[in-house]
Amino acid sequence: MAAKRVNIVVAACNNQGIGIDGRIPWRLKKDMAMFRRITSSTNDNKQNAVIMGRKTWHSIPEKFRPLPNRFNIVLSNSMKESPIGVHLVRSFQEAMDLVNNGELSDRVESIFVIGGYSVYREAMAWPSCRVYLTRVLADFHCDTFMPDISAESFRKTDNPKWLPDTEQEEGSIKFSYEVYDKH
Ligand SMILES: NC(=O)c1ccc[n+]([C@@H]2O[C@H](COP(=O)([O-])OP(=O)(O)OC[C@H]3O[C@@H](n4cnc5c(N)ncnc54)[C@H](OP(=O)(O)O)[C@@H]3O)[C@@H](O)[C@H]2O)c1
Repeated sequence: MAAKRVNIVVAACNNQGIGIDGRIPWRLKKDMAMFRRITSSTNDNKQNAVIMGRKTWHSIPEKFRPLPNRFNIVLSNSMKESPIGVHLVRSFQEAMDLVNNGELSDRVESIFVIGGYSVYREAMAWPSCRVYLTRVLADFHCDTFMPDISAESFRKTDNPKWLPDTEQEEGSIKFSYEVYDKH
């Protein structure tokens, strides 16, 4: 079976920041709802996979993890045991093998990489990759940043019909959605 496309979902502010002290620096309920929609929606009775690094896993409040209705795959070399309901893998390649050729291959519809930095970087190097970027149009102090979406490898594409292409606002924070495909 051909390797599935890797989809990245990321929200970054003006300085490309994505995190501070192990959490997301802003709170945008509408964007969280869109994250749920993007990562959970399927066309058939399969589920999607969400792939994340150990710190992103720990940044999800305990009561909300594993993320429901999705196969949760966590990358870590320091975790000794898989948390309940999680597939623990030791490398990005192992995650790709699990969803493309391994025990999940027939059960996964789409693959979503949901952070953090190094997992995004490895996903961007995958031959087939799409980035769903929420541009948070504001300044936040951050200690974690997203990798550059290089213009050499990625091209901005039209948003799918279900993804707003006009500026959004929640509280005092403006944000917008952009989609990039690797070429
Ligand atoms: N704004 C957003 O869209 C967004 C999305 C996600 C996360 N975040 C934020 O980003 C921050 C967390 O991201 P982060 O970049 O610091 O950490 P992270 O990528 O979530 O986790 C890093 C850890 O993941 C494991 N890991 C990563 N790549 C691996 C690989 N190839 N093989 C094996 N293990 C691997 C390692 O765990 P071990 O040390 O256990 O080996 C590594 O220390 C938090 O602040 C979070 O809130 C923001």
